[in-house]
Amino acid sequence: MRDQFLDSQVATNLIALGDPVLYEVHEMSRPEVAGELVQGISIVHPGRVGAEYFMTKGHFHTVLATGELYMCIQGQGMMVMETPDGDWAVEALRPGRVLYVPPGWAHRSVNTGASLDLVTVFAYPGNAGHDYGTIDRQGFRKIVVDRGGAPEVVDNPRWSAPKPGG
Ligand code: PA5
Ligand code: NI
Repeated sequence: MRDQFLDSQVATNLIALGDPVLYEVHEMSRPEVAGELVQGISIVHPGRVGAEYFMTKGHFHTVLATGELYMCIQGQGMMVMETPDGDWAVEALRPGRVLYVPPGWAHRSVNTGASLDLVTVFAYPGNAGHDYGTIDRQGFRKIVVDRGGAPEVVDNPRWSAPKPGG
């Protein structure tokens, strides 16, 4: 995760100081075929790397034409989303909110709370797969940072725009 954060020096220091767990995923794996639903729970712990909140790595689905359903059951956060064309959206996560990530949208959850875990339940098609490489290369267009105690969505200065045609 170190290179996912804007301030990779602060991330490096945090790793040297004990390498905290940023998030956990517990899932009921199912056969990786269309028709199945993989279900599970994602727990993003509270904390920051510099101004940037703890978050998941984030990914596209390998089979782009697969969506995902999330429901937040605890905490406060944001779902940062992006298409291969660079369109973006950020939606609030709060207890009881159901969030649909449509096919084609990369997704990353961010815990903007001060002390609670951000807990979401998710379900996605068994054949979706996870493409982490694209986000590794280009990052997300938007990042969520703390500004004076409140979360703010800002441009990621390290984002590299997707190349036309992939
Ligand atoms: O399938 C999902 O989108 C979730 O289960 C995520 O995998 C989970 O929140 C962890 O994020 P990531 O897979 O990007 O590390
Ligand atoms: Ni997913």
